[in-house]
Parts: sequence; C-alpha cells; structure tokens
Amino acid sequence: MARGVKGRRRIVAYFSEQIPIRRGKEGQDLFSQLCRATHEDGALLSTEDIVDHMSFLMMAAHDTLTSSLTSFVAALAANPHWQDRLRNEVTTLGVAAGEPTTLENLAAMPLSEMAFKETMRMKPPVPSIPRRATRDFSFKGYAIPAGTMVGINPLFTHHMPEIWPDPETFDPMRFSDEAQRSRHRFAFVPFGGGAHMCLGLHFANMQAKCFARHFLQNLRVALPPGTTPDWQMWPIPKPRDGLQVTLSPV
Ligand code: HEM
Repeated sequence: MARGVKGRRRIVAYFSEQIPIRRGKEGQDLFSQLCRATHEDGALLSTEDIVDHMSFLMMAAHDTLTSSLTSFVAALAANPHWQDRLRNEVTTLGVAAGEPTTLENLAAMPLSEMAFKETMRMKPPVPSIPRRATRDFSFKGYAIPAGTMVGINPLFTHHMPEIWPDPETFDPMRFSDEAQRSRHRFAFVPFGGGAHMCLGLHFANMQAKCFARHFLQNLRVALPPGTTPDWQMWPIPKPRDGLQVTLSPV
C-alpha cells in the first residue's frame, strides 16, 4: 500500500506538471486532448479530473495490456506449434516490414485474436473485480444482502472445467465462432460485463494484433530448456522471474 501511495504521488506530480505544457500545444494524444477538453460551459477540465482520468488509464489501459502481452509472449514460447501458425497468418498478410498495419490487416488475423483471447482466458489481466451489492439478491442459494462486498473472480470462471474442458491447456480453438456460440455469455469475462464493461476492449484487441504482427514478423521466441515460468496472479498476472525467454531473429 505504501509503495502504491508513493507511486501515485509521482504520477500525480508528473501529470500535473504536464497539463499547462500540453494545453499550449496541439498534441492529438488522449492526454493532450483531455488537457484541452472543455465542459459544455466552455470551462477546461480541472487538473484533478485530468490527473484522475490519466492515472485510471495507466492502470486500465497500460497495465492490462502489459500483463496480457507478456502472457501472450509466454504462451507463444510455450506453444511453438501455435507460434508457427500465427506467424504464418502474419506472413500471409503480405505487409512489408516498416509498413503500417491497416484495419483490413487486423480483420485478416482471426487466429491471432483467438490466441490472444485464449491467453486472457488463462491469465485474465483483471483476475478479480470488486463490487458491492446495491440491493438484496440471492445467488446459488446464498442470500446476499445489500451493501455486501462481492468479489467477481474471472480467474476462477476461466478455469471452470465444466465450461472449459482441460482448462490448463492452451487451445485458441476454444474461440472459434462455432465454439463460442454455445457458451454462456459470461463464461469469458476478461473485460468484465454489464454497464461497466471495458470501454477499450476493441482497442485492446487491435493493439494485441498490431503487437502480434510486429513481434511474429521479426522474432522467434522460445523458453530456455527446462524452464517453467512461475506466475504471480494477483493483483495482476506477471511472471515472477521477469519472463526468461530466448528471442532470435526470424
Ligand atoms: C487487455 C486489455 C484490457 C483488459 C483485460 C481490461 C479489463 C477491464 C475490466 C475487467 C474492466 C471492468 C472493471 C469493472 O467492472 O469494475 C474495464 C473497464 C474499463 N476499461 Fe479496460 N481493459 C483493457 C484495456 C483497456 C484499454 C486499452 C482502455 C482504454 C484505452 C480501457 C479502458 C477502460 C475503461 C475506461 C473502463 C471503465 C469503464 C466503466 O467503468 O464504465 N481498458 N477494463
């Protein structure tokens, strides 16, 4: 907690100092746009509001992607057969190194998207979602009174063998159109669900596929022989050893 409080102080200082600088420039990034955004009455957003939006986004958008892309690389390293299949998909796009990835390219990467989803099934970047019951309800015979803290646990849901047979096996085919059709809509919840479902989920999938394209086009990844990465799952999945992998040029 103390480290978190200290870290927040640093983030608040950094964003606060940047706000006047970015107000004077034309930057198109989200932070710069928030600095220049106005309320309906024309007033600029307060420093506190901008800082809160940005510090939320550091966690919601960056930490989640960092965690899931790390898990993705680990899954590619541990499953060379899938790594080859995805590299083949990326090569088939025919995009030369240095050229930007287009929306059409992203649409032509279904296997990469399935593999990314399977990665998030096994290691959901937000493994627990805290909630508080707003009214009395019952769940599976348990009475939950209004006001009770409820921990929604995607990590548990994503490993329920009755929904995900052989849950420890990496199998992107679980996300084929056909396989998904018959599954409960809350069986796969890396982005939460309901009113506060992730605002950036499509953007996250796009970023993951952009990453896959560049990574697979340039690099091969393998686990050093005899290693099995050890994962810390809470509060956000990360490899305890920093992920020891061997990278080599394609
Ligand atoms: C793999 C990447 C991501 C994962 C796993 C993820 C996961 C989640 C989850 C589980 C929630 C719901 C939290 C709750 O119900 O309390 C959420 C909300 C949110 N996410 Fe993401 N997220 C990701 C990427 C992003 C990105 C890239 C952005 C923005 C560019 C983003 C912006 C948001 C916002 C604004 C909310 C709050 C929505 C609301 O409360 O109405 N997320 N995300």
